[in-house]
Amino acid sequence: MLARATQLKDEFVAYRRDFHQHPELGFEEVRTSGIVAEYLESLGIEVTRMANTAVVGLLRGAKPGRTVALRADMDALSIPQQNDVPYKSVNPGKMHACGHDGHTAILMGVAKLLSEVKDELAGNVKFFFQPAEEGPGGALPMIKAGAMENPHVDGVIGMHVGVNLPTGQIGLKAGPSHAGTDSITITLEGKGGHGAHPHSSVDTIVAAGHLIVALQTIVSREIDPLGSAVVTVGTINGGYRNNVIAHQVVLTGTVRTLDPEVRASMPERIERIIKGVCDTFRCKYNFVYDKGYPSVMNDPVMADLAEATAQRLLGAENVVRTANPSMGGEDFSYFAEKAPGIFLRLGAGNPAKDCVYPGHHPYFNFDEDAIPIGMAVMAEAALDFLKQ
Ligand code: NI
Repeated sequence: MLARATQLKDEFVAYRRDFHQHPELGFEEVRTSGIVAEYLESLGIEVTRMANTAVVGLLRGAKPGRTVALRADMDALSIPQQNDVPYKSVNPGKMHACGHDGHTAILMGVAKLLSEVKDELAGNVKFFFQPAEEGPGGALPMIKAGAMENPHVDGVIGMHVGVNLPTGQIGLKAGPSHAGTDSITITLEGKGGHGAHPHSSVDTIVAAGHLIVALQTIVSREIDPLGSAVVTVGTINGGYRNNVIAHQVVLTGTVRTLDPEVRASMPERIERIIKGVCDTFRCKYNFVYDKGYPSVMNDPVMADLAEATAQRLLGAENVVRTANPSMGGEDFSYFAEKAPGIFLRLGAGNPAKDCVYPGHHPYFNFDEDAIPIGMAVMAEAALDFLKQ
């Protein structure tokens, strides 16, 4: 597969550059999904459109067997591109700054590789081209639309490019690899007044200051130091003028956790502190805890399978078991809740090509030499899964 993928490299680099030049935000991937669907149909793959802009391809093998799903995300980010490449974004304010253009091209390449061997295939391969990974999330709507059934998916494999690993390497981790990503909105209500007469007001700015500091004690004093959590207050809005006491302050933040039990405990911990601070400083509050993506839990058997595949293709020295999960999020987690899953990191860092900036950076780019590697690893991992 690696030799064949290398032969096909230029075709899928061209697709990647085309997607890079025409980035589309979540649930707006009309052009991208149209190209994907047309391509899959040209390979004789059954195509279903669902969840607005999602595309699911189904390649039925000649012999019966299990079904594996391979997933790529298609959406771009609302970031104005700042690096100069010949295939720079033509859509103002939008950029493929997370490599999803590459994921889409790679999975199209995998569809090509596997459709060439479908006569030997025992089982089925589903190709999940999902919208809106960057938010509000395309995986859950796809599951609700039936992506994991008919035929039922027995295992799922996802992949993300990363410049923190050099091209030629694959990273993976059993267990949690990405955090659950929840968001909070806290509104403090006090009593406005003249800045010179605090005694006749209830100052929400002072309360907010105490609250922000007190919230940090959840991580530093309540959660097991060997567990993991983040509470970040990202925005604070309130006040009108230097000499006016603000009657309202609104804070928003993100809560990241790895362990589902720690995650489940967070709303109570946060609200208890809000309530305590508000009691102390005479405020009222409104608290909204929005659950986002759950943490990605990689199946140990799927991790071993993908590791063996990657070692065979790339050499054991190029397959890295990463020790630490990322506190970033990934809605691949929803697929991995429904079937054993593994989320792979595809090394695509290359300082010589300026592929050093992290995802979501306006100078982000990844090494396209990783495209055939990603194609081959995903295709062979799917074959290995179906042979089990
Ligand atoms: Ni991404």
